Amino acid sequence: RDAPLVLGIETSCDETGVGIVRGSQLLANVIASSMEEHARYGGVVPEVAARAHLEALGPTIDAALAEADVSLSDVEAVAVTSGPGLAGALMVGVGAAKALALALDRPIYAVNHLVGHVGADILDDAAPLETPTIALLVSGGHTSLLLVRDLVSDVELLGETIDDAAGEAFDKVARLLGLPYPGGPEIDLAAIGGDPAAIRFPRGLTQPKDLAAHRYDFSFSGLKTAVARWVEQREAAGEPVPLADVAASFREAVVDVLVSKAIAACTDLGVPRLLLGGGVVANARLREVAEQRADAAGIALRIPPLSLCTDNGAMIAALGAQLIMAGHGPSALGFGADSTLP
Ligand code: KG4
Ligand code: ZN
Repeated sequence: RDAPLVLGIETSCDETGVGIVRGSQLLANVIASSMEEHARYGGVVPEVAARAHLEALGPTIDAALAEADVSLSDVEAVAVTSGPGLAGALMVGVGAAKALALALDRPIYAVNHLVGHVGADILDDAAPLETPTIALLVSGGHTSLLLVRDLVSDVELLGETIDDAAGEAFDKVARLLGLPYPGGPEIDLAAIGGDPAAIRFPRGLTQPKDLAAHRYDFSFSGLKTAVARWVEQREAAGEPVPLADVAASFREAVVDVLVSKAIAACTDLGVPRLLLGGGVVANARLREVAEQRADAAGIALRIPPLSLCTDNGAMIAALGAQLIMAGHGPSALGFGADSTLP
């Protein structure tokens, strides 16, 4: 069928995202973030996020319609993140999307946030998403390795973090180094001029004994503890802490594990494509190491623009449009927010 005009709503964490697409054409992508409200707590506070979505959603929808230069009555379908994410935050988006769909008498599509991250690549107009592909999603809330055979019907979770997400590790290590939240960009700044090989921090779940059960899983809490111990020992000995070396070595440990496991999945499964997504993709060292190793292994690497990597409504709209074009029916209105959606 013709490419439908879809409005997508994303409220699973602290970003209120509203996007509008026509099929795989991006018309608008507007994001309001409550990040600053969480900064003084050192992390996202669920109740604060939910309240902020409530306040931001109306104006963000208006801004997206204006950016796309369409009116509400032009919208042919509504797509919304139904999970996984923060329960209260999700409920705001799901409630708003249902109200919109009912008022406009349009179909509604409940979408999985993680698959949405993969769907973002469709909007990168350089080339359509090719499948099968391995997708590595890394943000403050998730660290997952997916095998995508078909975006709308066949996405398999190969592995995920068994404790902290990669972005969360950046945030926690930044905090213990006395740096502000969010930690990713701060660690990047602190690492300038640092030696990534100065300290050999542990690479979680990469030992032979771990690989049997956790080949594609991640663990970052041991790394965080190792950084804390290293810094404590220095301080106890009255020696200065070489911040740039610690930051660069920590970042190297995270990047090394993320990229090696993603490349291993590509090689093991014979999938010559790797897609990156999530806010941690803002990390230049991650992109650099991924490019080097993908190149060496003959794997085509795709990294959507950062505005489509962080949480946004356009990726949700894009996945909704794909579902419609693949002939899938809408979701029954009874669906709810599912914070633990697999
Ligand atoms: O995808 P995102 O915007 O929101 C969700 O968590 O869903 O990702 C935010 C996360 C935060 O943990 C932040 O510290 C991390 O991405 N991040 C980075 C960088 N920029 C943001 N991590 C490492 N390096 C960066 N440059
Ligand atoms: Zn996300």
